[in-house]
Amino acid sequence: MGALPRLAGPRALSLVTLTVQNSLLVLLLRYSRTLPQDDGAPVYSSATAVLLCELIKLVLAIALYVRATPNSSPTTLVADIFSPKWYLLAVPAVLYTVQNNLQYVAATKLDAATFQVTYQMKILTTALCSVWLLRRSLSMQKWFALVVLTSGVALVQLPSGSASSPATADAEWATRVTGLAAVALACLLSGLAGVYFEKLLKGSTTSLWIRNVQLSLFSLVPALFGVLVVDGAHVRTYGFFSGYSNWTWAAILCQALGGLLVSLVVKYADNILKGFATSVSILLSSVASVYLFGVHLAAHFVAGAALVVIATYLYGLPDKTAVSKSAAWKAG
Ligand code: C5P
Repeated sequence: MGALPRLAGPRALSLVTLTVQNSLLVLLLRYSRTLPQDDGAPVYSSATAVLLCELIKLVLAIALYVRATPNSSPTTLVADIFSPKWYLLAVPAVLYTVQNNLQYVAATKLDAATFQVTYQMKILTTALCSVWLLRRSLSMQKWFALVVLTSGVALVQLPSGSASSPATADAEWATRVTGLAAVALACLLSGLAGVYFEKLLKGSTTSLWIRNVQLSLFSLVPALFGVLVVDGAHVRTYGFFSGYSNWTWAAILCQALGGLLVSLVVKYADNILKGFATSVSILLSSVASVYLFGVHLAAHFVAGAALVVIATYLYGLPDKTAVSKSAAWKAG
């Protein structure tokens, strides 16, 4: 169990909290979006939820900045927001926005299971981006653990029962190819955005909370576009808060806290470990679904879950080369 001591402190706390938050978010999103509406109105607009989430994240990040900064004032806040290279946060903001939108495209073109399974490739794209952008080197053992993790999560999310897909006609095939291309691009952007944010966070002394304020401010622009243009007709017809319940607010709050948690995990651990935390959360929310929604867990779920646990353990083990080097050092 050599993995455990190395995960102590804020690193372990942020990873565990992210795991719990991710599991809770899946359940809250599902519950809030499937709750029957009293007046037959459509379900709430996701664009308004995204905008509110960004606003809440912005307020929370400012509050945390004030708490962490002695003698902070509106003047110091503005000065810190425009600290050197502030404009670089536009890069992850745009990448995340495109990624979030591609997720909707993929989810529309592909069936939910295919989407969820293929979206796990982001574990590998994140590792590749970490190697490329952060010059991080991964041992063969760690790459193997990542491949096992991706396969495990994919297996967990395979549909239960026989998926009776009809013979694919040309049009269907084209839809599927578009969906798969969207997933592939979303995976690439997820890796790029996460690792770029990590590079900005770890490559300067600018506070974590200011980085989040900067990211939220840039993200407000596309979020507003979503409310005014993409969901504009819905908002004008039914109103901004139409279909909102306490569960919607819980989901929005959970998502906002999740964004801040992601940045804590990236600061204290890294994007690759974040992949493990979210994989474990997929297991937790699936198990919770058994009790909450009466979902049946198939045999491939158990096999996939076992792979996720094995991969997590393998990744946490000290590398063989590192072990032999430290042994040689001690002997010398
Ligand atoms: O799928 P993936 O793990 O890449 O998604 C990360 C999510 O976390 C994105 O939706 C992004 O908007 C959000 N995030 C955030 N604040 C950060 C970093 C990421 O809200 N500081």
